[in-house]
Amino acid sequence: MADHLINILAIESSCDDTAAAVISNGRILSNIVATQEVHKQYGGVVPELASRAHQQNIVPVIHQALEKANIDKKDLSAIAFTRGPGLMGSLLVGTSFAKSLAMGLEVPLIEVNHMQAHILAHFIEEDGFDKPEFPFLAMTISGGHTQIVKVSNYFEMEVIGETLDDAVGEAFDKSAKILGLPYPGGPLIDKYAREGNPKAFQFPKPKVDDLNFSFSGFKTAVLYFVQKKTKEDPEFIENNLKDICASIQYAIVGILVDKLKKAVKRTGINQVAIGGGVSANSGIRQALVDAEKKWGWKCFIPKFEYTTDNAAMIGIAGYHKYLQQDFADFSVTAQSRYKI
Ligand code: KG4
Ligand code: ZN
Repeated sequence: MADHLINILAIESSCDDTAAAVISNGRILSNIVATQEVHKQYGGVVPELASRAHQQNIVPVIHQALEKANIDKKDLSAIAFTRGPGLMGSLLVGTSFAKSLAMGLEVPLIEVNHMQAHILAHFIEEDGFDKPEFPFLAMTISGGHTQIVKVSNYFEMEVIGETLDDAVGEAFDKSAKILGLPYPGGPLIDKYAREGNPKAFQFPKPKVDDLNFSFSGFKTAVLYFVQKKTKEDPEFIENNLKDICASIQYAIVGILVDKLKKAVKRTGINQVAIGGGVSANSGIRQALVDAEKKWGWKCFIPKFEYTTDNAAMIGIAGYHKYLQQDFADFSVTAQSRYKI
């Protein structure tokens, strides 16, 4: 292995995906994710089961990542891991493993903020994908977060708007649950929405000041709407599923785009990137493509595998910390709440 190559093994275990990736000078050599199926039957992530599954998965996932990258452990330059935010029991598995491995291999340890990593995923070296220039706006939309962030440099980020209650992914998942769809329902709403009429039904937009969001009222509106309609027609959901999903997606995407418009106006920055699980949604992706044409924005839409939780994004964040020689002490602890 040539000396100038910086090879980083990255580990992500903040929620219900056990993931490992190897990144060499900013280019992803492997990106392995073991999604935990055990939570499906409970309709949401069960923290105790998540940490147990991480314990089971972490060794095989890391083995696979190294094998696929064709990298020997002794050629690793550093170990990067997700310090937070996330579920404490889940974070502890990745944190402890990363520490032990770095100690055993005598290489530096790099701690990464999961939310910063969702944003920095845009800096992965990838053919056909441009990288944003600083400063730009990033909207992180996932099952746990909804934020608009002003990104001035790799690790200089300021949250300028965020949800006051539920995350947008929860609005998707909880709406899906009301429709009787399994967890996580976001991708299913997206799937049915493709064949439905987005203007079939109307859902109210929450009134929230500034650049903040609120989604708790949205799921209640969906619930009341479905209850009222099924009273009139017990088969309302079955007969209208595609239209309901299209209308829910249209409303949620509208809420997100409205706030982005406001953020662009307020900051004067019209480079907009999205990240997090909900950035896989076809509605928001299309809305950003349209925004480039309509308003002259420059938009950055991540590759699908870098939208939902993955270790490649932890790797790129780790790589930039490595370049700055920003290493963690071995006494570093996991943080369930960890601000950008
Ligand atoms: O980033 P992520 O994998 O985990 C968290 O950090 O939360 O995001 C998961 C969330 C879930 O709420 C899931 O329903 C949502 O992302 N999601 C989607 C789509 N794909 C994933 N929501 C809407 N449309 C999609 N295509
Ligand atoms: Zn995430």
